[in-house]
Amino acid sequence: MTSVALDLRERWLADGYAFPVPLLPPDEAAGLLAAVRRHEEISRRVGGRVAQRWNSPKIHLLAPWADALVRDERLLDVVTRLIGPDVLVWSTTVFTRPAGSTERLAWHQDALHYGWVNPRGTAVRVWLALTGTTRENGTMRFLPGPHNRELVPHRPSGGAHGLEVDMELDEAAGVDVLLAPGEASVHTPTTVHSSGPSAAAADRVCFAIDYISPALRQLPAPDSALLVRGRAAPGSFALEEPPGSEYGAAALRGFHEAVLARDRHFVAVSR
Ligand code: NI
Repeated sequence: MTSVALDLRERWLADGYAFPVPLLPPDEAAGLLAAVRRHEEISRRVGGRVAQRWNSPKIHLLAPWADALVRDERLLDVVTRLIGPDVLVWSTTVFTRPAGSTERLAWHQDALHYGWVNPRGTAVRVWLALTGTTRENGTMRFLPGPHNRELVPHRPSGGAHGLEVDMELDEAAGVDVLLAPGEASVHTPTTVHSSGPSAAAADRVCFAIDYISPALRQLPAPDSALLVRGRAAPGSFALEEPPGSEYGAAALRGFHEAVLARDRHFVAVSR
């Protein structure tokens, strides 16, 4: 069987990633980009923790458009093929590489500080392009290999992420994630990836959603997540409430609680 004929889940599990996955037409991606810009502006006006954390990890608890996106059937139909019928949203994050930015991310695995116990097959990051992604605008790169199947040791790095995988690696083997607006890549929490600086005249903007199965175990304690399809058994993540009215009092309360719980979890993991 050729790799083209392999099922999406098989490719995602075997390689650690799969792309391009067409999800939305370009005009919808453009609409989401405008919504992201507006969200950033409103968050800055609100100030405090909302301004500090406007781009991660709980946009879906503040902005109804983000809540609608994480529940979109076109996304969930792909996600259920990967992690099964019961789906929670753990995080939403906007990744921007500004035009001309010298910023880069060293080779790393996302799950290093997550406290996830063997997340293989129970968690996926959907990295949705709101602008095109190119080598020039510093797109993400995946590093193929067996290291993508479990956590590997990291060492301190000088880059923005702070840590990089502690292994000999062949930079030239990196695979550029080239996407049109509305296309996505999917990768596992242990897939080694990096991103480069930008020589482009426009920003590169992607919206990432971390979907998890309630079967995922998180130590030392679960925090919270939003149920978007199927059911979540007792004892899994505390369930979040959707935002309801835009940036309303209840949404702000839910956002603050969830961000605090996440911060506490990360502190506990790092101890
Ligand atoms: Ni990453």
